[in-house]
Amino acid sequence: MAGEKRIGILTSGGDCAGLNAVIRAAVHRASHYGWEVVGLEDGTAGLLHRPVRYQTLDVTKVDGTMMRQGGTVLGTTNKGDPFAYPMADGTKKDRSAEIIGGLRELGVDSIIGIGGDGSMAILRKLAQIGGINLVGIPKTIDNDLGVTETSVGFDTAVAVATEALDRLQPTAASHDRVMVLEVMGRDAGHIALSAGIAGGADVILLPEISWSVDGIAEKIRKVQQTGRNFALVVVSEAVKTAEGTIPQKEFSDGQKRHGGIGNYIGHLIADATGAETRVTVLGHVQRGCPPSYRDRLLASAFGVKAVDLLAEGKSDRLLAWSNRQIIDIPIEDAIANYAAVDVNGTLVQTARGLGIYVGDPA
Ligand code: F6P
Repeated sequence: MAGEKRIGILTSGGDCAGLNAVIRAAVHRASHYGWEVVGLEDGTAGLLHRPVRYQTLDVTKVDGTMMRQGGTVLGTTNKGDPFAYPMADGTKKDRSAEIIGGLRELGVDSIIGIGGDGSMAILRKLAQIGGINLVGIPKTIDNDLGVTETSVGFDTAVAVATEALDRLQPTAASHDRVMVLEVMGRDAGHIALSAGIAGGADVILLPEISWSVDGIAEKIRKVQQTGRNFALVVVSEAVKTAEGTIPQKEFSDGQKRHGGIGNYIGHLIADATGAETRVTVLGHVQRGCPPSYRDRLLASAFGVKAVDLLAEGKSDRLLAWSNRQIIDIPIEDAIANYAAVDVNGTLVQTARGLGIYVGDPA
């Protein structure tokens, strides 16, 4: 297969740490086969432009600096489904043919797509219609793709949230305060659970487990009774209020995102316990930073393997990390396999074993 091949690589959906390390690895491995790599800009959005927006990538352009760099040098987008593309007049249009046309213009017959489940579903459809080979690499700080133990970006996001707790603890202790930290996770509470345990939280609230103000207040009172004058509370952004809604913010372009549950819980804690309470919303700092060493390794291993898979003639496969190695599975199965926090799993049991309040037992 060596010789003429041109691989397109793209990042799609929300950015995270480790994307550039994947790109770097794929370019290095492709050079081993004598293949060219073109970086497709802004997910599939660059393929809608004429001329198509892309970067020619070779080993001279992907030195070790990329390993350390947060974000994605290719740009990305988490809106604009090409099969129902939002047009200026408010209508939706199927623009998939333009994207496939863009790939043909570039002479790309294989794509390495780095994305979450939503991106994979779109890329898979495009690849099928266009007769293009596709290998997917899982990335999401939310770590909610069930087929892989971890996705690119998750480890770094947890490290950032853990460090935030490290920084909140001394100031909490200095002022006798309860510090509430709201962390990301659009549907699943993996970041909150892992960082909460690692950062020594007293309370961890997850979308998967219902909570009560009495439960939270009782834990904080217990902490106070031991003579400790501060407490740390981690709240996943997708946790519901007592009324059953997830607080959201609406932006000027009409997009809605989770945000606000930290403040809601902070007020409840202050009212119920009388403790002075402050709230930190961590937000996008969980995404845009140098990747942890684990994310660099995962990204490098995925990038190399994706090219090897194409060399083996495989397509429509998603890479996953399982039992200390990479496996590949049909993308269709991967999309169908969503992983929320296992409410009876090891980490929830660990948290409970440590005396952390993680919501009320079922
Ligand atoms: O899915 C990744 C994620 O960071 C979620 O944790 C978060 O809810 C969302 O994306 C934020 O999206 P945006 O970057 O569009 O604000």
